Amino acid sequence: MGADCSNTPVLLIGAGMIAHDQVLPALLQMLREGAVGEVRVCSQRNASVEGLARAPDLRRAFPDVGFTPVLDPGADRQKPRPEHYREALADMPPRGVAVVAVPDQLHHRIVMDALRADQHVCCVKPLVLSVAESLKIEREARARDLLVGVEYHKRFDPRSIMARDRYRRGEFGEFRLGTARLMEKWHYRDSNFQHWFTADATDAFVYIGCHYVDLVHFVTGLLPAAVSVHGLLDEFPNGARGYLWTDARVLWENGACLNVQNSLSFPDAAPGPNTQGMTLYCTGGGRGAMIEHSDQYRGIAYSLARPPGGPGSAQYAEPSPDYFLYQDLGGPGLVPTGYGVRSVRHIVEAALRVERHAQSAGGRRAAIDRVEEAGIIATPANSRYNEGVCEAARKSILSGGSLVAV
Ligand SMILES: NC(=O)c1ccc[n+]([C@@H]2O[C@H](COP(=O)([O-])OP(=O)(O)OC[C@H]3O[C@@H](n4cnc5c(N)ncnc54)[C@H](O)[C@@H]3O)[C@@H](O)[C@H]2O)c1
Repeated sequence: MGADCSNTPVLLIGAGMIAHDQVLPALLQMLREGAVGEVRVCSQRNASVEGLARAPDLRRAFPDVGFTPVLDPGADRQKPRPEHYREALADMPPRGVAVVAVPDQLHHRIVMDALRADQHVCCVKPLVLSVAESLKIEREARARDLLVGVEYHKRFDPRSIMARDRYRRGEFGEFRLGTARLMEKWHYRDSNFQHWFTADATDAFVYIGCHYVDLVHFVTGLLPAAVSVHGLLDEFPNGARGYLWTDARVLWENGACLNVQNSLSFPDAAPGPNTQGMTLYCTGGGRGAMIEHSDQYRGIAYSLARPPGGPGSAQYAEPSPDYFLYQDLGGPGLVPTGYGVRSVRHIVEAALRVERHAQSAGGRRAAIDRVEEAGIIATPANSRYNEGVCEAARKSILSGGSLVAV
């Protein structure tokens, strides 16, 4: 026990939206506090890493610390180098942390490469798209005593932790019927989504409904048993067709039923970046019980003097201070807070804890087992039902909504 982990290097792979909005600020705050060593960032294109280095929000929040861009000086700024991350992994000393924030279909390959380079992994959701890939990742990590944490940040929203604790103490009885929704804004249709969000590859439920399936398990401990998904095909501006509206029915091992609606349809003029929430109806002791979360409206309403501009931004806004917020606490810079930050931090800290047990025989394995059993951090083994649901959902939607066992 007791190895100093404050020098542990972190490599962020992927420099897109989630890296900018949540993951990198969380890592830079850890660097600022001396909790991790150098933070390096690589991506497919030099241009995206350079873009992050220039990003005004990040520069304002972190005038005192910065990340090290991993660039290929010989390559054109826009030239895709899909294998470049392998060099960055090869340059890392073993048993650091790789944070994977690339498109879903690349997670399997890049997580496996990170594990083979002897790195712990924090991967944005969904870990992978099939049970077989999740099993492969688990085997590789287990053979090397490495932790893989899946970044389902809704688990770190205090309301989720409260509901979980009270549900598991029996205060709500048993979950019977539920409804959840997460609708992204209409303008997503104009974005890069039209190139990959096609009917053959994914749908609104698999893309974003997974959050609420994961959350119902997180709160209740129940496992999903079967899924049926009704999808409505719609057209992107480029003519590609996708299931942009979905209505899923998830049946659980105790017979309970969760209805999940997802779409790319929330009006651009409506407040907030999306609309989302969940109601679970339960029964216990001969009475009804209920959990209701409005996950979009967090009690703040702003009517702005001027339209803020930018796609999907409205003059009347309902910002959420709970997911991610830069706070001015007197400097230097700003401190990122919120459950998005806590989630990344929790996984990275768990990986560092594993290394603190490096000296004792079986110490690392025992530390990883504790994370698996606690069930707060999603791991391949304790959240594999998510891959099962994704697989079943794809079969269901493509067969017109039949019920498919998980
Ligand atoms: N609510 C959520 O939990 C949430 C929200 C947004 C995104 N995500 C997840 O985050 C991931 C990334 O989404 P995003 O919105 O940031 O996407 P994005 O398209 O904005 O960014 C993806 C980044 O990955 C990089 N990349 C692509 N191929 C690469 C390769 N071979 N090597 C290195 N880098 C590569 C791209 O250059 C880009 O910088 C997805 O898995 C998505 O599902 C989760």
